[in-house]
Amino acid sequence: MSSRTVIRGGLVVTASDEIHADVLIEDGRIAALAASGTPAAEAFTAERTIDATGKYVIPGGVDAHTHMEMPFGGTFASDTFETGTRAAAWGGTTTIVDFAVQTVGQSLREGLDAWHAKAEGNCAIDYAFHMIVSDVTEETLKEMDLLVEEGVTSFKQFMAYPGVFYSDDGQILRAMQRAADNGGLIMMHAENGIAIDVLVEQALARGETDPRYHGEVRKALLEAEATHRAIRLAQVAGAPLYVVHVSAMEAVAELARARDEGLNVFGETCPQYLFLSTDNLAEPDFEGAKYVCSTPLRPREHQAQLWKGLRTNDLQVVSTDHCPFCFKGQKELGRGDFSKIPNGLPGVENRMDLLHQAVVDGHISRRRWIEIACATPARMFGLYPQKGTIAPGADADVVIYDPHAEQVISAATHHMNVDYSAYEGRRVTGRVETVLSRGETVITEREYTGRAGHGVYTPRSTCQYLN
Ligand code: URP
Ligand code: ZN
Ligand code: ZN
Ligand code: ZN
Repeated sequence: MSSRTVIRGGLVVTASDEIHADVLIEDGRIAALAASGTPAAEAFTAERTIDATGKYVIPGGVDAHTHMEMPFGGTFASDTFETGTRAAAWGGTTTIVDFAVQTVGQSLREGLDAWHAKAEGNCAIDYAFHMIVSDVTEETLKEMDLLVEEGVTSFKQFMAYPGVFYSDDGQILRAMQRAADNGGLIMMHAENGIAIDVLVEQALARGETDPRYHGEVRKALLEAEATHRAIRLAQVAGAPLYVVHVSAMEAVAELARARDEGLNVFGETCPQYLFLSTDNLAEPDFEGAKYVCSTPLRPREHQAQLWKGLRTNDLQVVSTDHCPFCFKGQKELGRGDFSKIPNGLPGVENRMDLLHQAVVDGHISRRRWIEIACATPARMFGLYPQKGTIAPGADADVVIYDPHAEQVISAATHHMNVDYSAYEGRRVTGRVETVLSRGETVITEREYTGRAGHGVYTPRSTCQYLN
């Protein structure tokens, strides 16, 4: 049975175009676009019409970096796939790429199966997986080939967290060589974790236990050093590289230099690095713990360099690194010892709005907003043009966005399963009205009309963003 929807009168914004057009959706996919008011658009007939006059019609957001139910520091990220994907939908995101975790001693397959079990039947929007590789063995390397074939085409390694996720340079080089062969994309957590652990120990010995010391020991130079090392290891291996959660301007400079050399090196930053700073980490009464994540928040002067990197395409993607821990009972594990504060911030619901605010503030253009939040993450991780754009044949993952609505971000009104907002009290212009996932309304004029289990696992092709 065919079902048709037409979205009339909005400004369709994609990474490449802005046009006043009507959008015809049939059986969950975009069937056609036609300039509003033309005979071609008038000829669209459908059971349901959505009026988007005065609104933007944009592709659903693609958040390529989330951690639902992620184990960390003896606890678990507080959003499940059910609560986290519902919150994502509220914020105009219709696809997440979450990180399945291989723990040391486990096979990639066991880790991946565990993540499928967490997500299956629970998601409000579509989802895919990257694989965290914590144990580079001969077996693991062989498994990487199989995962690429079945749609898990990117692998995160950590130069930080010795004894947990950490890989040494030899293990990283081996995984990169394998990726160079099988088409996989290595994603790097670039911080010199060995040096950081020494600085942590020294800080604690001096009695420096408050959250703000988290930012002081995880030095920008140690992010830049690791970024440089990752770039050169990837160059030696002949593999592309994607550096996650870039926060230091010195790391942006390393990426820019490598890109000027023509290397396939890419960088992601996150809203927390664009909008928050070490001032937040220094908030009194342990409130700073709300802002503990790694890489850490940086002094304000780094923000301008991140915005510049987004404009010059030295940074290509903004993802959230959504990894929420409640202040009560979870962040509090680190009272008296900042190194025991679980690392991560909530944000999956806020990304599209915060980046729209960046359009309003003049940091980026409207099309660049869609490029860094929808189109490029889809291309980078092999989901394009099924996801990330509005074009015939694409999944009808569409957001009706009101660019004039005013809202105040608050834990009192957000939908993430976490007891605080990192952006509490922040006023933003722009708000999600209606969200379609494969043609079904998940959010209908600010009401949740979706359901757990609508979202399906979406296998990915290899990176579509290489030079
Ligand atoms: O602090 C963070 N970023 N937590 C999530 C895990 C990671 O390193 O991405
Ligand atoms: Zn990381
Ligand atoms: Zn992460
Ligand atoms: Zn459905």
